[in-house]
Amino acid sequence: MNDINKIIEEAVAKINNADSAALEAVKNEYMGKNGVLTQILKSLSQYSIEEKKVIGSEANRAKAVIENEIEKRKDFLKKAIIDEKMSKEKIDYSPAFYFPFSKGSLHPIMRTIEEITSIFKSLGFSVAEGPEIETDWYNFEALNIPANHPARDTQDTFYLEGMLEGMRNVMRTHTSPGQIHVMEKQQPPVKVIVPGRVYRNEATDASHSAIFHQIEGLSVDENVTFADLKSTLTSFISKLYGPDIDSRFRPSHFQFTEPSAEMDIQCILCKGKGCRVCKNSGWLEMLGCGMVHPNVFKSVKYDTEKYTGFAFGLGVERFAMLKYGIDDIRLFYENDLRFLKQF
Ligand code: PHE
Repeated sequence: MNDINKIIEEAVAKINNADSAALEAVKNEYMGKNGVLTQILKSLSQYSIEEKKVIGSEANRAKAVIENEIEKRKDFLKKAIIDEKMSKEKIDYSPAFYFPFSKGSLHPIMRTIEEITSIFKSLGFSVAEGPEIETDWYNFEALNIPANHPARDTQDTFYLEGMLEGMRNVMRTHTSPGQIHVMEKQQPPVKVIVPGRVYRNEATDASHSAIFHQIEGLSVDENVTFADLKSTLTSFISKLYGPDIDSRFRPSHFQFTEPSAEMDIQCILCKGKGCRVCKNSGWLEMLGCGMVHPNVFKSVKYDTEKYTGFAFGLGVERFAMLKYGIDDIRLFYENDLRFLKQF
């Protein structure tokens, strides 16, 4: 018995110093054909039955202990190899040189669109997009602006050469055709905004550009009223400019809404006192809106007895100019880095 305990002790000491090759040798030394423990088990026949039992079970216990120690050592050696590899192959992430460039940033128009969009999302609107090239139907007819109607003159249109589906193509003059696309695809309730680029054939100056951006809004359901229009737009303004900016709605005219209105807000610069930006009126014109005209619903085959809705359209550049104190719309399109880097 003492011998067996000694054998175990010796073997464990050898195992703990062994590399993987030596480990095989140790295994052989104790458990191989002529191994120490193998010999003991082979020699059992010379003992009495009582002795056989004790020595046999002790020898088997020793075998199990030694085998277990060998496995443990193997795992240890494996891990050591991996650790060494990892430390040698470690990637040095510290930069060899620092980039001399500053990071890019969003164009102020994009930023403004994102900000306005996220406010309307928080008010339950989803976001859709429409094409920039439209047929006469989407840009005018479906919006209750028939051919030869004088209302067409209010939007100086870029007409394209060629026809599509037998109709003239135009660069969209507003995002309102986006309303038609949405309603063609979806039954009420509809609550959507459509941001996008629009085109007008007009001379460029500090406050006009032939290409600019609008965000269209549309909400259609049973029992949508002018009060819903007002509450939606006033919450939008208070989320954008703060709760104490006053607003008012003035009667106006758009072919696709009835009644129509324009929304003014108290000048955010002088808070209504009168300044250069509000031309001393204390008010700023912000957007056009109204209740969707039944003829528009007829264009998309909505039930005009069942549904009502409101729509609005705002000019992104106007919001961006007020927000950032920019007094010339052309700055947005010149891509002068000295201008862009400020955002
Ligand atoms: N489409 C109009 C414009 O470009 C704005 C508008 C949209 C007005 C929706 C009312 C309702 O001037």
